[in-house]
Parts: sequence; C-alpha cells; structure tokens
Amino acid sequence: MIKAAIAAMASAYAPYSGFSVGAAIRDEHGQIHTGVNVENAAYPQGSCAEAGAIAAMIMAGGRQITAISVAGKGDLLCTPCGGCRQRIREFAALKTPIFIADENGFRQAFTLDTLLPHSFGPDHLER
Ligand code: THU
Repeated sequence: MIKAAIAAMASAYAPYSGFSVGAAIRDEHGQIHTGVNVENAAYPQGSCAEAGAIAAMIMAGGRQITAISVAGKGDLLCTPCGGCRQRIREFAALKTPIFIADENGFRQAFTLDTLLPHSFGPDHLER
C-alpha cells in the first residue's frame, strides 16, 4: 500500500507546484485504490491525491477506509491537508492508520483522530 502511494506519485499532474503527491487507500474488501493530485491553471480547482483515491474507492464500491497512505517528497512529512483530513473522516474510523511516506519509503504513522481531533462526522447527523 505504501509502495502503491509512492508509485502513484509519478502519475501526478502538478505543473504549477511541482509537488507530486500519491495516495493509496485500502478498503473494507482489501482492495487498494490510488489517486494523485491534479492541478489546474485556475489554482483552486486543483484536487488532492487523497480526493482522487477516495473517488476511485467509491467508484469501485468501497465505502470504508481501513488504512490510507500518502506519499510526497521533502524533509517535512507530507501529511494530508486540512480538507483531506475531513474527506478521510467521512469514510474512516477515528483509529484508522494514516501512513506517511516519501519517495524512499515509510516515514511515520498517525491515526485519524490525532490529525483531526474532536472532529465532526457522519455520526453527528441523523440519517
Ligand atoms: N496536496 C495533496 O495532493 N494532498 C495533500 O494532502 C497536501 C497537498 C497537493 C495539492 C497541490 O497539488 C500540491 O500538493 C501542493 O499543495
């Protein structure tokens, strides 16, 4: 899964930032879904790697993120942005692991609740 996120980085479309990100999700069926960041000349229209991986999971019928890996280069850890933490929250448990990697391999593991404490989620809404 971490390898899948690292491999995905090569497919990113990031001509403006030059910062390629790959994400890989394992769903409740054990399937792996990947995504990359896709930037846009109208900058705010760009999308993150995690959003792409979530879209791929949903399209394939997955509804639960059992683990997610995010890969990006640099000295600083490529942790999910704030918006993506909330996107992950929709489909993950609070203890779901988030594995951060760079192009060389695994760097650090977090759980969702450490990256997004006291979060708002689907359970707050009556459905
Ligand atoms: N990026 C992601 O794909 N995921 C994150 O969680 C952090 C940021 C992308 C968005 C943009 O294309 C580039 O990294 C620089 O911000």
